Amino acid sequence: MCGIFGCVLKEGLAAPLIHSSLKRLEYRGYDSVGVATIRDGKIYLKKDKGKIDEVHRLMNLDDLPGNVGIGHTRWATHGAPLKVNAHPHSDCSGEIVVVHNGIIENFSELKLEMENIGHNFVSKTDTEVIAHLIEERVSKNPELDLVNNVSEAVKRLDGSYAIAVISSKMASKVICARKESPLVLGVSENGVYFASDIPAFLPITNKAVFVEDGEVVELSATGYVIRKIEDLSLVTREPKTVDWSPEMAVKQGYPHFMLKEIHEQPLTLRNTLRLQEHYLDLISTFLDRAQEVFLVACGTSYHACLAASYMFSKLAFLPTYPVYSSEFLEQHGKSVNIDSTILAVSQSGETADTLAAVTCAQQRAATVLGLTNVIGSTLTRVSRVYIGQQSGPEIGVAATKTFTSQLSVLAQLALRLSKKRGKISQDEMDFIAERLERLPDIVESIIQTQEAKIKRIAKKYEGSQIFFFLGRGISTATAYEGRLKLMEIAYVPSIAFPAGESKHGPISLIEKGLPVVFICARDGTRKTLVSNILEMKARGASIISILEEGDEEIKALSDDYVEVPKGIPEVLSPIPFAIPLQLLAYYVTLEKGQNPDTPRNLAKSVTVK
Ligand code: AGP
Repeated sequence: MCGIFGCVLKEGLAAPLIHSSLKRLEYRGYDSVGVATIRDGKIYLKKDKGKIDEVHRLMNLDDLPGNVGIGHTRWATHGAPLKVNAHPHSDCSGEIVVVHNGIIENFSELKLEMENIGHNFVSKTDTEVIAHLIEERVSKNPELDLVNNVSEAVKRLDGSYAIAVISSKMASKVICARKESPLVLGVSENGVYFASDIPAFLPITNKAVFVEDGEVVELSATGYVIRKIEDLSLVTREPKTVDWSPEMAVKQGYPHFMLKEIHEQPLTLRNTLRLQEHYLDLISTFLDRAQEVFLVACGTSYHACLAASYMFSKLAFLPTYPVYSSEFLEQHGKSVNIDSTILAVSQSGETADTLAAVTCAQQRAATVLGLTNVIGSTLTRVSRVYIGQQSGPEIGVAATKTFTSQLSVLAQLALRLSKKRGKISQDEMDFIAERLERLPDIVESIIQTQEAKIKRIAKKYEGSQIFFFLGRGISTATAYEGRLKLMEIAYVPSIAFPAGESKHGPISLIEKGLPVVFICARDGTRKTLVSNILEMKARGASIISILEEGDEEIKALSDDYVEVPKGIPEVLSPIPFAIPLQLLAYYVTLEKGQNPDTPRNLAKSVTVK
């Protein structure tokens, strides 16, 4: 998730405007920044790795001539956050320049094709191939205009993109195109603008035109022309007036980043289904060959590891040991060895306890693998192989979209391991893979159909002094995550246990009306789970069940329930079943009048041990 912005102005310099607008998009990515402008058929370009203010201090991003320009602030997905991978990217001649937000899935084969016909690539990004594809089109079809050649070039792309292109041969225009990644235009007296998000141009104009999937746009001093990429047929669309404050705009109209990020999960889950096969294969090969596997992490990431231990065992018969990073040295520091493999999971890639566990393992020659959301983070630098989960920046302190993305990546690794080891039938593997593909839509429908209900449940129980979260099997991990969310942002003391454990002590806390949240994914634990519900009910607990649509038996036992679409394999259940728990924590926090984005005593990344 990067931020792109650009403009065609009637008067004035484009660069200072691009600089200040990218600043308003910096929440989308801050690994590197770049600006390119045109004047008199010559392209001027400045880019470097680092935050916008740092790069501006170094090379003055305002100091480029011309009233036409494009810019980019990056969240690295392909290629480390280095200057060479910063956008904009050029073709071989430097006359065609592109900025891009999204993921080009087939970039490797397109790059090979371009290299085989003589194109030279300088970066490790997926984006650079777009500039060379357009260059190839233009060289073969010089008679056609840029909008035509760009449309034909993007037809070759699989994946998601919002791009903007300038060419020294077409000095007064910018061409944009969109497929899935967000793209919106701004219109004012003095010019026309494109951006990944409205905040970028809101201080300039609140007249916005939303670009749809499969559309290409030509921006010029006379305005904008939208066409269908497929056949270049014209599309007319009037600007809409956006009545948002700049602060609201950064949150895309959501009151808090946490709610925005919960609603982003269909998109971020789709992104996890576009990871580079090569790294998924490499990591699953290391896991397959490992003598022993430790899954090491903190907080929410640890809950993803706990769920993964069920996935690896059930799908690939691979035993793994989920370990709290802060306990790794004490628990395994002496036994970890050259035959050990550590899969360290950390969305920030900077959590000190996790890095300390990694250092300990490395000192004993163990193999370290990494799963993170921040390319270029310390974890990516110390891992033998790592994979980026591509969730985009997570601003809310409470991890939400990064949790479900971690689970999706870990499930994909478990499926590959299961394929390598042939432990389950092809039909079962295909069924789980097919459901994994459908999870983004399933999560979308849970948010749409259940959010209002969860809000009512939160209002009903916001005064409770304590909450229980119980699940069996892999849902134990889901229950732990529900507990952590409610504790860390609503400050409500919460207890979570494998449901079977509750009667070995914690049940003594149960009294009339105490809310007990049961995670009721359909799996082999059903019978015992129902008896756990009955045990709690018998002691007066209020039963709140997260259950499958049509589960009348548990509905009948519940005081309140939230429904999740049916037919979700148990090994994938923590993803959809986590959504209602995220929303419950969010709305209880609101009922208590607290800000879910900035909980007390907590930071987004814990870099002290
Ligand atoms: C989760 O909502 C918290 N922000 C926290 O527990 C977090 O998961 C933990 O600090 C681990 O962070 P990491 O994934 O960046 O390593």
